[in-house]
Parts: sequence; C-alpha cells; structure tokens
Amino acid sequence: MKKITIIGTGYVGLVSGAGIAEFGHHVTCADIDLEKIDQLKRGEIPIYEPGLDALVSDNVNNGRLSFSNEVKSCIEVADIIFIAVGTPQGHNGEADLSAVKTVAETIGTHMNGYTLICTKSTVPIGTGKMIELIIKSKNPNANFDYVSNPEFLREGAAVKDFLHPDRIVVGTRSEKAASIMRNVYRPLYINETPIVATTVETAEMIKYASNAFLALKISYINEIANLCEAVGANVHEVAKAMGQDGRISPKFLHPGPGFGGSCFPKDTEALAATGRENSAPMRTIEAAIQTNTNQKLKMVDKLVALLGGDVKGKTVAILGLAFKPQTDDVRDAASRVIIPELVDKGATVHAYDPIAMDNFKRHHSDISYFENWQAAVLGADGAVILTEWNEFRGMDLSDLKSRMASPVILDTKNILSIQQLKSLGFTFDNVGRTAI
Ligand SMILES: NC(=O)c1ccc[n+]([C@@H]2O[C@H](COP(=O)([O-])OP(=O)(O)OC[C@H]3O[C@@H](n4cnc5c(N)ncnc54)[C@H](O)[C@@H]3O)[C@@H](O)[C@H]2O)c1
Repeated sequence: MKKITIIGTGYVGLVSGAGIAEFGHHVTCADIDLEKIDQLKRGEIPIYEPGLDALVSDNVNNGRLSFSNEVKSCIEVADIIFIAVGTPQGHNGEADLSAVKTVAETIGTHMNGYTLICTKSTVPIGTGKMIELIIKSKNPNANFDYVSNPEFLREGAAVKDFLHPDRIVVGTRSEKAASIMRNVYRPLYINETPIVATTVETAEMIKYASNAFLALKISYINEIANLCEAVGANVHEVAKAMGQDGRISPKFLHPGPGFGGSCFPKDTEALAATGRENSAPMRTIEAAIQTNTNQKLKMVDKLVALLGGDVKGKTVAILGLAFKPQTDDVRDAASRVIIPELVDKGATVHAYDPIAMDNFKRHHSDISYFENWQAAVLGADGAVILTEWNEFRGMDLSDLKSRMASPVILDTKNILSIQQLKSLGFTFDNVGRTAI
C-alpha cells in the first residue's frame, strides 16, 4: 500500500486528503498551521464544507486518514506527495508561488527513494518545470516523477465534486507516473470518469483556461444585465433562453455583484499576467477582470441611488458575506469591496451571514455583526443581499419591512419577488431586471 502525503490542509488539501482516503489509500494531511492540525486531531473541521465532517471522521476512524504538522517526516515516508498549498495573488497579478517553492525545497531535501510528486494547487504554466528544478537543485540524485493534477472542486459542493468529478486532468512525463495516478484514482477509473491524460504544461493550462472561461461568462452576463437595465429587458429571461442553446449551457449565466472567492479573481489575474509575460495578451480576460471590478462598485452606486444619493449617516444591513452560499470563505468576496466603500462613504454597516461572520470579522472589525437577519435589519435605512443563502430567499418580506426604518432593498442576487416587493411598497433594485 502506497503512503500518500498531502501538503497543505486547506479547502483543497483537506477535501482531497479525505477523498483519496475514501478511495482506499492511506493519507496524511500535513500543514504548518499548528492550530489547524490540532483542530483536526481533536475531530474539528476548520472550514465549513457540507459533508466534509462525515468524510473526514469516517476515514480517521477506519485508520486511513491522519493529520500532522511534521511536514518533513511526512515527506520522508511518502511514496506519493500532493502539493495543495495556497497560491494567492502576487503584487502584479501573477500567482505568488512562495509557498509552492518552500514546499518544493523541503521535498527536495527530505524525500526518500522513488517519489511521485504531484501538484494540485493552481499554478501557472511552467511551474511544474520550476518545481522539478528546485527538487534537483536540492537533491541532484532525486528519484522522482512529476505530475500536474489540477483540482476543479467547488467550495460548497467540494466533497461531491471530489468524489464524482466531471473529469480528472493528469499531466505527466512518464507512463510510470500515469500508471501510479490511475491507481490513486482507481475507483473513478472503474466508474468511467473521464480522465484527461496529457502533458504537465497542458494540464496546468487546462485549469486556468477553465476558471478564466467561467469568470468570463459571469462578466459577460453581468454586462448583458447592465444593458438589460438600460433598455428595459429582463436578464433572467435572456439567460434562460441563451442557456437553452446547447452550445452555451445555462451554467454561470447568473447576474450578480461580480465574481469573488479564492479562485476566479486571482486565477484570471494570473492568466492575464502569464499572457503579458509571453507576449500573448489575454484581452478577453483583462476585460472580464475590469468588468468585474466595475460590477462591485456599481452595486455601491445602486445603493447610494436607492438611499436618495447619499449613504452618510445611514444604516445599511448587509445580508451575506461569503462569496457564495454553502461556504464560509470570504476571500475576494463582493462584500470585501462593497462594505469598505460604504464605510468610507459614512454609512453604518450591520452585517449578518449564517456561516462566514467569523472569517469576515478577521478582516473588518469596524462594522457591527448580528446573530440573524432579523436583528441586522432592525432600524436599517436600507438592506443589501450579497449572498443567496436560502434563508434570505425565504425571508418574510412584510416582517422585513416592519423591522426597517425605511423599506429599501438592493437584491444583488435577484432572489426576491419583484411582485411582492412592489405590492409591499419597497423601494428596490436588483441586477438586470426592470427595477424601480
Ligand atoms: N478553494 C478552492 O475552491 C480551490 C479549488 C480548486 C483549486 N484551488 C487551488 O488549490 C490551492 C489551495 O487552495 P485552498 O483554497 O485550499 O487554500 P487554503 O489557503 O485554504 O489552504 C492552503 C494551506 O496550505 C498551508 N501551507 C502554506 N504553506 C505551507 C507549507 N510550506 N507547508 C505546509 N502547508 C502549508 C496553509 O497553512 C493552508 O492551510 C490554490 O492553488 C487554489 O488556487 C482551490
């Protein structure tokens, strides 16, 4: 039985580690974050991810999954190492590879015998070569194969996505490496999950091309929504009819306050940076990034307009802080742009999110947090829905109205009924549906 070590136990590393253990392997998830590993050893899950709790505890209990902050010794004993550390945005848009480089150096120094080294983190094209060189520079006799195995899971549905992926992308330079990877994913091979067996560089490219395309689609529908507002069309009907065209597909055609999260913003920036470095400009992606920045600020303008041209001295209730429902992740969420803008303009912000408030508080201590939406909207001059949590979809709008100082709402996720808002006398706006 091969020993597998996952380095980096975040959203991707933890789900991948538990998922690979579920496939029948022995996995250790390693991380330098002592608190995170301690939590996991106590049986606590450091992130909110539906179904992860049970997947982790089942595999810990059957002895296939363990946690460690002894990264070096986990490398020494491993036959297969997955790199799943963060690759945040660097100063000029490029991916910051410092954690990946540190891990590559540690692997080069401590690996022991033939080892398969596989990157799951999203890394720019050419990073595989860089990792191979770092390992060889630390250990000229290193006996290893390198694999690029980008991850496509979505936060909020990560467990399902990992165990039942649309496809697995495996970029290798040798048949031996490809065969080891087939064994790692054996249950998925048996299920006939499509496997894209390709080169390292192509695998790296597939990940960026996919994420950037989805981001592009969101920016596109956001621009269509803005145009719908100007010409009196309904973006939902437009998106629905567009999606019925098999060439387009209905997914990622939901207008809103702009894309956020831990992937699309930084991955579009990184792909654009790679384009610039290689004199192959990614103009569509650069445009999607710009559109996305504008879309977030446009939400602020909409609220200011709803509140009579000025938010100074007004109380605004923000409903939803996570970048999407079913996650506690607030990285690059629309809330991270919109709330500071409102605070700058002199608004008092009351915030509520069912899951993401603790994470948000670490970045913004200058606003007030409430236990539920009912408390957050009390006495507010306006409310803004930023995340389409089900509990906001099901809000009793007359109750909402009775709690607010004035019935003003900006529904950036288009989840409320315009008919109902109108009949209750709300002043409201949304994205791309004829409004006020
Ligand atoms: N979050 C997603 O939905 C998602 C989906 C697909 C791909 N990805 C990619 O996967 C990668 C990881 O993303 P994430 O969201 O899981 O990040 P994360 O920030 O949640 O987790 C990264 C982990 O790596 C650890 N780490 C950093 N340096 C380390 C080191 N030297 N040794 C050991 N551990 C170290 C951190 O402590 C942290 O726990 C990124 O490249 C991301 O783009 C993320």
